[in-house]
Amino acid sequence: MKIIIGSDHAGYPMKEKVTVHLRELGLQVEDIGTYSEEAVDYTDFGKKVARKVSDGTFDRGILICGTGLGMSMVANRFRGVRAALANDLFSAIMSRRHNDSNIMVMGGRLIGDTLAFQLVDTWLETPFEGGRHQRRLEKMDIE
Ligand code: RB5
Repeated sequence: MKIIIGSDHAGYPMKEKVTVHLRELGLQVEDIGTYSEEAVDYTDFGKKVARKVSDGTFDRGILICGTGLGMSMVANRFRGVRAALANDLFSAIMSRRHNDSNIMVMGGRLIGDTLAFQLVDTWLETPFEGGRHQRRLEKMDIE
């Protein structure tokens, strides 16, 4: 599984730790920045990740900003992207089971690192249930 990760300055400290965590698990992770706590626009980094998931270059994306809200809004404008804001375990699990989320978004100012690792691990391991949920996904895009 090819994973792409990005953040703004507010998500930067957590993004660094999550990237190390995923690489320690042996996963292939492309980190597109930001690379410091200098203020940047979350929109620029959200777009970079969402574009590469939308076009199929990467299977999954992870985005981190302060709350996770702005990154979710940006990512979900891309066709084929299903970005889930998951600052809790139930949302992370259900976003995979029912929504086949392909980008997970977290709020670096809302949750701790240990929870972030648990969320990412669970999100990567949880399968999509398909069936009636597939039919619903197919109705998501605006005609
Ligand atoms: C940056 O201050 C903050 O607005 C951003 O990280 C994010 O939370 C936006 O939704």
